[in-house]
Amino acid sequence: MTQTYTPMTWNQDLVLDLPFLDQVHEEFVDLLAETVQTEDDMLLPMWSRVIAHTQDHFDREDQWMEATQFGPRGCHSGQHAMILAVMRECEARGHGGDKAMVRQLAYELGIWFAEHAQTMDAGLAVHLKSCGFDPEAAHHSAPDASAATAAQPA
Ligand SMILES: [Fe+2]
Ligand SMILES: [Fe+2]
Repeated sequence: MTQTYTPMTWNQDLVLDLPFLDQVHEEFVDLLAETVQTEDDMLLPMWSRVIAHTQDHFDREDQWMEATQFGPRGCHSGQHAMILAVMRECEARGHGGDKAMVRQLAYELGIWFAEHAQTMDAGLAVHLKSCGFDPEAAHHSAPDASAATAAQPA
């Protein structure tokens, strides 16, 4: 019998008042909730979507921390890497037949996320706001090989 969980839902306590971060967090919470409640035959495809979204979410935060030389970035990025490793291990176990573990981890990640958002991500949000950080501008000012080539004298 499939274990049922009541998933974490997006709520005011998770809002960090930084729209580009809150948006990716809300998507993450929604994806976890969908995974917790999905049918068994959709569980592994859903889990792949969650992993891809999480990789993108964590990569972005890691890049923002690097771009702004955020002090505790080593600890924060280390936690991202650890969580992704656990998610991938769980994906392998799911493909080995242990779908219950995938569902359980999707549930437990909601609990982990509330803690992470209210501590590490909250600290990052305060820092990014104090820098006036704009992720779009940072993206466009990133080194671009084609621009560098174009700037070379003929
Ligand atoms: Fe985050
Ligand atoms: Fe984070």
